[in-house]
Amino acid sequence: MTAADRAGAHMVDALCAAGRIRSPAVERAFRAVPRHLFLPSFTLHEAYADDAVPIRFAEGAATSSASQPSMMAIMLEQLELRAGQRVLEIGAGTGYNAALMATVVGRQGRVVAVDIDQELIDDACEHLATAAPQLAAADAGAIELVCADGAVGHPERAPYDRIVLTVGSDDVRPEWVAQLAEGGRLLLPLAVRGSQLCVALDLGEDGLLRSDSVQSCMFIRLRGIGSATGRTVALAGTDLAVEVPSDGLPADPERLVAALAEPGGAIRMPFPLRQADIWDGFGLWLALTEPGACRLVGAGTGTPAPADGLFADELLPVGPSVGSPALVTSHGPTGLAVVAQTADGRQAIRCFGPAGMDVGAALVGSMQAWAAVGRPGAPDWRLTVVPGEPGEPGPGVVPKPHGTVLAEVRSQGRR
Ligand SMILES: C[S@@+](CC[C@H](N)C(=O)[O-])C[C@H]1O[C@@H](n2cnc3c(N)ncnc32)[C@H](O)[C@@H]1O
Repeated sequence: MTAADRAGAHMVDALCAAGRIRSPAVERAFRAVPRHLFLPSFTLHEAYADDAVPIRFAEGAATSSASQPSMMAIMLEQLELRAGQRVLEIGAGTGYNAALMATVVGRQGRVVAVDIDQELIDDACEHLATAAPQLAAADAGAIELVCADGAVGHPERAPYDRIVLTVGSDDVRPEWVAQLAEGGRLLLPLAVRGSQLCVALDLGEDGLLRSDSVQSCMFIRLRGIGSATGRTVALAGTDLAVEVPSDGLPADPERLVAALAEPGGAIRMPFPLRQADIWDGFGLWLALTEPGACRLVGAGTGTPAPADGLFADELLPVGPSVGSPALVTSHGPTGLAVVAQTADGRQAIRCFGPAGMDVGAALVGSMQAWAAVGRPGAPDWRLTVVPGEPGEPGPGVVPKPHGTVLAEVRSQGRR
């Protein structure tokens, strides 16, 4: 056994033990395709760690990465690939995921993998050539690499039994739905009110897409014609910013600035929140049920807050950054309530503006309502995508450029 074999076996054993790999077909693919052949400029340690590996940057931000192996395993299980299927991948990157999928669908199947970046496609071709002996030994299906904007799919080889995006999208584009075979499945990291949800959607005979599974995720966003329109707006005079997603009732940054200028009282939290409750858990619940929901994040400007004002480091820590769920009034007296850390390491709801305490009480009510239904997280939501004209935004109704996402909690309690 070589060092690479050992590192690969260790990674797969860990993915199985953690329940990320659940099926023999996905396990076989991970064991057959060596990840380091797709990351030739990295050490074995880097290639087989359970981390995303950024491989391309523009203006300081990663524009491509080899996805985290755990997330890849979760998505491959969500895809439920079968032998002989035709698959379209949008976001070919290193070509590793295409190789795994080709191994699962086998010689009778086919994978088309599209990337918007020609150099990545050239590199992925080389990686696949290096891995050709392993792919042949595993009876992998053919892989076609194409440089194109995957926002329009790849109509030349449609229909597909499976379409998978390994890049985040704000929308469920009609091209992808049109290129799905009857009963096909579309799996994509979809932005929903500022959270990213990896949703496996089955196309029904009625033209609606219904989720089979939902997972929380964090992917690089689509570039090109389907690029994201959500933004983060700095709040003047503070070291804070607000996320303004494109699919909600966006919080008015001026209203937030006005509220923050009037610090009020604090309210006890009914229970503390976890880091996961910023974009998943309670944060997702708040965003999907409360029209005034928003998320505050650090702006990184270092602007000091006025006396009793809100400092960025009072928001909840998330990796090297900070973020907190918040609720703001959309009309009438300004009021803002933000989940904040206190000096003694606890959490409290800080209230701002004349209506701050009322909004704080509403935030407590929302936490209690979330707890009463078993604190649902991403896997507990069911999403239905209705293609066509977007509907009016509201609780559980999320308009998209090419349709509407309807969200409801699928069961009582965490599964
Ligand atoms: C997280 S990486 C994908 C990783 C890849 N599946 C792998 O196994 O290495 C996301 C990829 O999406 C690509 N991408 C971004 N926008 C795109 C678009 N509009 N069409 C196709 N690919 C796109 C990026 O260039 C990047 O390589």
